Amino acid sequence: MINIQKAAVIGCGFVGSTIAYTLMQKGIFSELVLIDAVQAKEEGEAMDISHGLPFAHAMDIIPGSYEDIADAAVVIITAGANQKPGETRLDLVQKNSKIMKSIISEIRRVNCEGILMIVSNPVDILTQVALEESGFPKERVIGSGTVLDTARLKYLISEKLDVDSRNVHAFIAGEHGDSELAVWSCANVYGIGIKEFARMRGFSDFSDEMDEIYHAVRDSAYEIIERKGATYYGIGMAAARIAEAIVRDSHAVVPVSVSLSGEYGLDGLCLSIPTIIGNKGAEQVLEINLSDGEMEKLKKSAEELKTVLAQIGE
Ligand code: 2OP
Repeated sequence: MINIQKAAVIGCGFVGSTIAYTLMQKGIFSELVLIDAVQAKEEGEAMDISHGLPFAHAMDIIPGSYEDIADAAVVIITAGANQKPGETRLDLVQKNSKIMKSIISEIRRVNCEGILMIVSNPVDILTQVALEESGFPKERVIGSGTVLDTARLKYLISEKLDVDSRNVHAFIAGEHGDSELAVWSCANVYGIGIKEFARMRGFSDFSDEMDEIYHAVRDSAYEIIERKGATYYGIGMAAARIAEAIVRDSHAVVPVSVSLSGEYGLDGLCLSIPTIIGNKGAEQVLEINLSDGEMEKLKKSAEELKTVLAQIGE
């Protein structure tokens, strides 16, 4: 039986522990199991994060084993090597797909029936690996995808136009990586088309700024990793947002990485598309009318991912 109040985080590095810390503050679960390859690490993080509980919401944060996660509603996997300065997410593929396979075999062993949220990079490839290895129905395997990139996009638009980022509606689709695309045809601020809103804010032409913003979003992780070695706060919030949509069954639209079967003419791979998320996982992948240019970029992004998928199959 699934316990909808229970989540697990596998991999307690910077990303996993920040996700755990964010979940604790949000108070959306009553039980959180932490698993790491190094037992002392999961124990230390569980102790440290638990010490924040008197300032947040009551819950149990326990270092555990795979047996403890059989009934978890959401299993968040962050384990794996992370990017070093100059590395791309795709450079991590061989090493991290092996780690993912071993984690999934443990999850299968304990008959976990929850939803898998893959966060480790390259996230689209590893979501596909997790899907294939788990044998779970595709709605139960989702990657954090471009939820973070989308937040970066909203933030940068909001800074440029000096408006609350929560009023900005825009998203990044495709690979969580170098081939991702900004879907400008759907971008708006409070329902007002992005170019029109930019005009209201004094920009006669916003095209150069849009290019600049896209590149800044795409290269954000490189810029941060060069400066501080890793990224973890943004992804902490992004993962918590997805978990919240699952637990509250809110039917939120989020650009998670999902397995496509024919949508946009694509098949046999995972990439990010705005998707309705609830307590069954990915309920509906939205087929949006993209512009021709956006469609072409999405196909290119899919091709990049397919090439990598073919390599790990070898
Ligand atoms: C990020 O985009 C590295 O995927 C991670 O921050």
